[in-house]
Amino acid sequence: MESKGIVLWLTGLSGSGKTTIAKGLERKLKGYGYLVEVLDGDVIRTNLSKGLGFSREDRDINIRRIGFVANLLSRNGVVVIVAAITPYRAARDELRKTTENFIEVYVNAPLEVCEARDIKGLYAMARAGEIRAFTRIDDPYEEPHNPDIVCYTSIESIKQSIAKVIAELERLNHITKTPYQQSEESKTLDVNAL
Ligand code: ADX
Repeated sequence: MESKGIVLWLTGLSGSGKTTIAKGLERKLKGYGYLVEVLDGDVIRTNLSKGLGFSREDRDINIRRIGFVANLLSRNGVVVIVAAITPYRAARDELRKTTENFIEVYVNAPLEVCEARDIKGLYAMARAGEIRAFTRIDDPYEEPHNPDIVCYTSIESIKQSIAKVIAELERLNHITKTPYQQSEESKTLDVNAL
């Protein structure tokens, strides 16, 4: 049985937990036998989107590029997990229209929580005016209206968030825990007759 590709798009503020959830999902889905690729905004911005900034225009270009690669991979059966802020609703709506099996996951944590975590020290820099156009400090984040899945990372553990995504993917028949199990028909197929 061939596995169908899907694009799990994790949107949310910097420090909300997108990368951590993406890595956890990657581990789990690989364990089930899926081909998985993670496209992380921070990483993409060091190569494919190197040189782009954080204006609306540049963010849109970044997101379209990631969407393009995600489509190439998913049409070849890869489960693609994107972790990128993706702050504009219009960009996310465009992705939904142009991407088969697009699943929007809103990694939802309040600004205060993300700022208190400040894993990369960027919120402090943004507050000090050392970096400009930082999402939710002096740049917008348009919350998803109808995400397929919401992970509340300030109240759920990472493990719970990951389990929630997996359960929803199963419920929607996007994954099964044994994706490469042979069908009864193919097991009894007489290869000499082909
Ligand atoms: S997006 O808006 O284009 O989707 P993306 O996810 O690729 O953003 O990159 C966001 C990452 O870039 C953040 O996690 C953070 O590490 C870094 N960053 C640097 N400057 C900014 C900024 N002005 N706004 C948001 N993130 C920034």
